[in-house]
Order: sequence, then structure tokens, then C-alpha cells
Amino acid sequence: MNEAVDHGRRRILSGLAVATAFSILSPFARSAGVDYPFTLGVASGDPLPDGFVIWTRLAPLFNAADGRGGLRQAVPVRWRVASDAAMTRIVRQGEVTATERFAHSVHVEVVGLEAGRPYWYQFEGLGAQSPVGQACTTPPVQAMVSARLGFVSCSHWERGYFSAYRHLAAEQPDLVFFLGDYIYDSSYALDSGKIIRPHGSGNAVSLRDYRNRYALYKTDLDLQALHAAAPSVATWDDHEVQNDYANRWSQDPKIPVAQFLKQRAAAYQAFYEHMPLRASSLPKGLDMRIYRRLDYGRLARFHVLDGRQYRSEQPCIAANGSHQGHIADNTCTDLRDPRRTLLGWEQEAWLDRGFAESPAQWNVIAQDLLVAPLTQRDLTNHKPGRWTDGWDGYMANRERMLASIQRRQVKNPVFWGGDIHSFWTTDLHADANDVDSPVVATEFVGSSVTSDGPPFDAFSQLLPLNPHVKFFDSRQRGYVSVDVDEQKMLTNFRVITDPRDPLATVSTLKSFVVEPGRAGAVAV
Ligand SMILES: [Fe+2]
Repeated sequence: MNEAVDHGRRRILSGLAVATAFSILSPFARSAGVDYPFTLGVASGDPLPDGFVIWTRLAPLFNAADGRGGLRQAVPVRWRVASDAAMTRIVRQGEVTATERFAHSVHVEVVGLEAGRPYWYQFEGLGAQSPVGQACTTPPVQAMVSARLGFVSCSHWERGYFSAYRHLAAEQPDLVFFLGDYIYDSSYALDSGKIIRPHGSGNAVSLRDYRNRYALYKTDLDLQALHAAAPSVATWDDHEVQNDYANRWSQDPKIPVAQFLKQRAAAYQAFYEHMPLRASSLPKGLDMRIYRRLDYGRLARFHVLDGRQYRSEQPCIAANGSHQGHIADNTCTDLRDPRRTLLGWEQEAWLDRGFAESPAQWNVIAQDLLVAPLTQRDLTNHKPGRWTDGWDGYMANRERMLASIQRRQVKNPVFWGGDIHSFWTTDLHADANDVDSPVVATEFVGSSVTSDGPPFDAFSQLLPLNPHVKFFDSRQRGYVSVDVDEQKMLTNFRVITDPRDPLATVSTLKSFVVEPGRAGAVAV
């Protein structure tokens, strides 16, 4: 048993007190024993008015060297959905077979439930019962309701504890969005001084590696508590596969496309195996469809984007061939080339249709990146430039997306993002180069759960060059919670005291209100 595992186990035990603070996790299900198969908890996701997905993965030995969780044979798994937390009034139940093909993960698409109400669910297999999770269906299609939402991104295990997840769970959100970097493929060097708790293995490359990376993260009780508390909707960023990859191109030009596509397919499969996704997201060959829409009554439509799989090749590739993100000189023509796309042409068209047909009061675009343009400075020659790995590397696509919002007269568009490990509130203008042009949409970006933020002073000095940025802070880790009804969207930037402290407390750094009919956030 290596150190990481031992540490993980201790964390599971010491976290018991924390977990049982949430009544949704039934204590009887937590009996110790090496054969207990529900070590990775439970989750629900992608809700509809009449159901949702319930998920678990059986893994008695979550870090088994072969990535199979300590299982070989197919395992019958019973599932139950109840209308009460004590699991006495069962409204749906069934049995499925967990097989090796998808690492003994279970994805049940529960149907036939009532709209807009909570349910509880539990699995049973190998003579054990899972923790009980709470989910809820979305409201009836025509309903105008209120909702509490949360969004999170960038949880590097090695950089600390997931207190942000614990505190978001305690807010009892109706729906939680994971906006990418749920795991990190890469590990810090042992002598880097960066490791609060080690991955216990190097960079993930194979299916086995990715499975064990997800499994390690899923043993975290704060993450388990969040998944057990509310349904989630997940998209990915780069670190679910590899830093700064774009479509079929690795950041490392020495890795051929065919080889990288195999690595990507393994990573995508592991993502499917560990997330509460519908069968519409099953891996297909080398690809996997995760962009999708979700309606929350008439209150909100969520346009969930995939910012990685369909991109044009990285822009402004450096002379040494590196495909890594960097600050490119403004004169690089790739940045503005209209033949290039970040979302891919099909997803662009799909988004445009989703805007055109949206019946919702609020249109939330949930995706992985900062959308606003950001003039930066080259670290050596101080010339102004743009970060190539984000939307600034694909400006024509951003212009088309904002033009589509205007053309379709989309009601109250709000972008959510992550990736940049800092809080941002920005105005998205019709003309990115003209702050006097109309504000088309509002943007909120959440800080990381644990990952290191960019240097605060250096970025603060960029703000005069970027007057459309209303707020920026990179000094604290956390999440974003959002209270929304027909008349108001209140967004709270929530920060934890210290990612190195497993019992970190939480407070609000800043809050903003958006009112219908007026793009742009107002600080409160
Ligand atoms: Fe990240």
C-alpha cells in the first residue's frame, strides 16, 4: 500500500464525522470492511421533469493496480428510489448488471417520477448497501419557480482538501454544475513543495490510470457529500485528458494524433464511467457527446458546452512546435481567423438553435472557460497579447456566439465558466473592441476548488487595459452559489479559509445581482 492510499483511507475514516453531519448519508451504509463496494459514493444527474440519472461504481479496492476496482465478474445491482429520506415509500426500483466494460459503473435513467420534487435513492450489491443520495426532478415545463444553483471547477487533489464541495453541499442547492478539471491528469513532482496530499501516481495516460485517478478523487467525502446532496450536470475542460489539448492535438507535438486520440478516448471513457450521464453520452468510437441542454421549467435553460473536443488546432503555434497555451502577440492572424472554431461547427449551429427556441427567462451558458476578451502582457517583452488556450484564441467563434445571442434576442444570457482559477465578473460587449457598444451578456467565472490561482498583483495591473472587467480576485479558493427567480439572479462568490485545512470555513467574498432585461452585473 503506497502512501497516497494510506492517506486516502485515513481521510475516509477521519471524514466520517463530517459525512454523518449530512443526514442524507445513512450511517449504516458506512460499515467498515475491505469488501465494501460503494467506496466511491453515489451521484445523480441530468434531471428532467420526470426523472434523473442515478450513478454509482462498485470498487471494493478503489485503487487496484489494474484499474478494475478489485472486481472481475459482472455484479447484479439493485436500485431503489423513494419519496422519503428514510427509504420507506419506494416509488421505483429495478436491477441492472454492473460489468467490466465500464468498470462496474451503474447509470440508471429513472423515469415516471413527479416533476419538481425531491427523491432519495440507494443501491444494493455484493451484500452491501450504498449511502442514500438525494436528487430532485426539474419543475414542470411551464412552471416559473425559484432555484438555488451552484457551480465549481478545478479541484486538484494534490493542492488540498475539497472544503468548497462540503460547503456548497451544505447550502442544499437544487442543481450543481461541474465546469471542468474535476480531476487532474498531471501530478506534481514529489520535491515540488506543492503536494498537500499526493496522487500516489504520475501523469495519467491509460484507461487504468484515468479510472484510478477518478476513483481516488471520488473517495473524498466532501465530494461524495456534494454528489449525494443534489443532482449535478458535468462538462469537462482540459485536465480530464491533458493540459491544453485541443481536439485531436496534444500539447506535446511529439505525440502523434493517432496516439493522442487513443489516450483521449480512454480519458473520455473514464469520464463517462464516473459521472451521472445519460446513454446519449456513451462513448462512440473515439468521441463522446457531452454538450446538451437542460430546462428548469420556464425559469432557466442551461446550454452546457464542450469547449475541448471539436476545436481547431491550437492557434499561433510557437517556433519550437509546442502546442501549449501562451500569450500570443496581437498580430497573430490565427486569433481572429473566421475559419477557426472553438466549439466546432456542429455545436455552434446547435447552440444557435438552442438560443432561437429557448422559452426561458434566463439563459445560462455553462462552459469551461473565461469568455471575456482579456488583453495580457507578454512576461518577457511586455507587449500586449492574448492567451491562446481560451476564447481569446478563437475570437471569431466568440463573435459569432454573441451575434447569435443578439440575433435570436435571447432573454437574459449569463455565461458561467472556470479554468482560470479566479473569480471574474465581466460585461460581454457586442463589439469586443468597443466598451461603448451594448452589453450583450453577463459573465461570472468561479475560482478553483483547490488549484493555484494566477498572480493577483500581475493580473490586477492588467485591469486598466480591460475596462469591461467588473471584478477580479485570484487569492482565494471556493465556488459560486446562485439564487435565481423570475425577477432577479443573485450570484455569490464563496471562499474557503484555506485549502490546506480539511476543516476550512466559508464566507462570501462578493455578491452581484443581475436584473431581467439589463445585461451586466451590479455589485451588492
Ligand atoms: Fe484548472
